[in-house]
Order: sequence, then structure tokens, then C-alpha cells
Amino acid sequence: MDDSHISADLDRVLFTAEELDARLAEIAAEIDAEYRDKDVLLVGVLTGAVMVMADLSRALTTHCSMDWMAISSYGSGTQSSGVVRILKDLNTDISGRHVLVVEDIIDTGLTLSYLVSNLKSREPASLEIMTMFRKPEAAENAVDVKWVGFDIPNEFVVGYGLDYGGRYRNLRCLGSLAPHVYS
Ligand code: PRP
Repeated sequence: MDDSHISADLDRVLFTAEELDARLAEIAAEIDAEYRDKDVLLVGVLTGAVMVMADLSRALTTHCSMDWMAISSYGSGTQSSGVVRILKDLNTDISGRHVLVVEDIIDTGLTLSYLVSNLKSREPASLEIMTMFRKPEAAENAVDVKWVGFDIPNEFVVGYGLDYGGRYRNLRCLGSLAPHVYS
């Protein structure tokens, strides 16, 4: 789905599919260099990270493995509380492995704070984070993120894996949702 198919639902396009592709290619080159002699395990956080995982992994020129976690955060309304429950754990024992967590977006950073401490307790050889998007509030929760696609303003964004009510994940670009859709 392109923005032209849902133009009434979007205020603006923040990044086109081509811009997302180009940035991912840059990041993939850095990740290739970092893990050239290592066997990296990409850990995707369902569901939003499906698109970035698919594109990043295929942009790599080195071997990688993939695994997935599903987590749910408890919170009141739209606010995340940072209390996280694992709905689907990894299939892989990450002890001694080089792990790269792949996320679509860091908003408050609470999800990743939990995830990082949980994964570190499993004693991986290394643990790094790549996120395609990061919002300003993430700065309040110190999570050491090695690769960030784009820092974005605090807008209600959809597309490239990000949803509203389950929709828009399959939008190729990242767009700002028009208020009439969610108000
Ligand atoms: C999103 C995103 C992150 C999390 C970030 O997932 O994929 O995992 O929120 O938010 P935080 O930094 O405030 O903790 P979401 O819970 O919306 O699930 P989804 O990927 O299935 O849409």
C-alpha cells in the first residue's frame, strides 16, 4: 500500500519508501562491518518489526540468523507502564551469541529497557539494538541504541510496520496519521 491509496488518512509523509530503503542500506553496511567475522542473531520484536527485519536482513551481505519475541506491555489507556509480559519467547538459546535486537520504533523506551535487561541475563556474547525510528521521549529512558534509522517528532505515525488499530502496517512509507482518523 502506498500513501496515494490512503491520502485522506495521512497529514503528511515523513519518509518515502525510497528514503527508508536508502537509510537501511547505510545501516546494513555498518552492521555488515560490525559482524563480518561473527555469526549474528537478529531478534525481531513482533509485530511492528516485521518490515524492518525483512528489509534489513536482505540488505546484509553477511550471514545472519533470525528469531522473534512477542511482548505486551501493561499500561493504562495509551500509556505504557514499562511492565512487560513475554507472550512469545525466543526459540534460540542466546548464551554466547552475538544478538542484535531489531525494532521498528522506540517511543518511551520502556519496552526496550525491559527487553535489554531480560536478554542480558541470558549472557549473550554481545547485545546491540537497531531501531528504524525513535521518538524524543526515548531519551528519558537510557537505552543504549547503536543504530537509529531516523529520529522523528512526537507525531502519531503509521506505516512501515507501525499500526493504528491493526491497520497501516503494510503502508510502504512512514506517514503522520490525520487527526480525524483517531479522534
Ligand atoms: C511498539 C514497538 C515497540 C514498542 C515501543 O510495539 O514495536 O515494541 O511499541 O514503545 P515504548 O518505547 O514506549 O515501550 P507495540 O506494543 O505497539 O506492538 P506492535 O509492534 O505489535 O504494534
